[in-house]
Amino acid sequence: PVGAPDKALAKKVTKVGIIGAGLMASQFALLFVRRLQVPVLITDLDQTRVDKGVAYIHDEIGKLEAKGRLDADAANKLRALVTGTTDKSLYADCDFVIEAVFEEVGVKQAVFAEIEAVVAEDAILATNTSSLSVEEIGAKLAHPERLVGFHFFNPVAVMPLIEIVKTPTTSEAALSTAFVVAKGLGKNAVLTADAPGFVVNRLLAKVMGEAARAVYEGTPVADVEKAFGPLGLPMGPFQLIDLVGWKVAAHVQDTMVRAFPDRFYANENFHALAELGDVVEKDKGGRVTGFTKEAAK
Ligand code: CAA
Repeated sequence: PVGAPDKALAKKVTKVGIIGAGLMASQFALLFVRRLQVPVLITDLDQTRVDKGVAYIHDEIGKLEAKGRLDADAANKLRALVTGTTDKSLYADCDFVIEAVFEEVGVKQAVFAEIEAVVAEDAILATNTSSLSVEEIGAKLAHPERLVGFHFFNPVAVMPLIEIVKTPTTSEAALSTAFVVAKGLGKNAVLTADAPGFVVNRLLAKVMGEAARAVYEGTPVADVEKAFGPLGLPMGPFQLIDLVGWKVAAHVQDTMVRAFPDRFYANENFHALAELGDVVEKDKGGRVTGFTKEAAK
């Protein structure tokens, strides 16, 4: 069982490093500068990706300004807190570094090996993995005790939850820091064991998998979506898959099937739908929410 952390052990966070500048990473960069008001460093494989991430953050700050939620001065201060670079040596003075790179254990291990060579010995490392084993991600670290799972939900600005994942080696300092950071970000944190899918994706994978199964059995997508209304959830399963991304959702399904073959089944129909979603996604040059919104009419 996992126990409650001792918040007195939390490390003060004065500079945050984010690895990856994709949509998820850029969303947390924005949240960190807005809520913690500390410098945030964001990196990616090449300058084009970095520039795209930074442009997204600047754009979102501009939207907050336009809505009157930030004055020009505050908006400029937030923009000045964000540094985008490909130079990983600049992580040296970050005390909290979170990764949001490709969902593959080997890729995450390689990224952390690079970061560990640069950061201070007591810097805390966090992973936003949605369903991989945090312990495995940290297996090659010299100090695996500093690694904690810190899983955000989409859209990051709005969803109130963060899953904080403790491995058998996660230190109390790493755990406490994660809780204090989550609170500083204005989120509710839950502590979960390092089990596949943690809590939320374990539940969602069932819902999404069974929804795809219902379609396979002949229920139209639109009717599955409508049937969700009485449950009071803000989105039906397919609209949620659109939001999360078909590929991400299919990846979570695969992880759950591999981990629990007796409780989750390989769902070819889900993959067929994921392929369809991917096609629509590419057609529309972005998210496919319109696909299910139209279907649900
Ligand atoms: N980014 C930033 N802000 C956003 C946003 C986005 N992508 N989408 C919506 N918002 C904001 C809007 O700006 C608005 O803010 P204000 O009220 O301050 O102006 C607020 O959210 C409400 O937006 P809307 O009125 O346009 O829309 P809505 O009331 O229909 O809510 C929703 C939209 C919040 C997305 C809601 O439908 C919802 O909660 N859906 C469920 C989302 C969910 O379950 N996410 C978890 C996905 S699982 C996951 O992420 C895990 C994983 O690892 C794969």
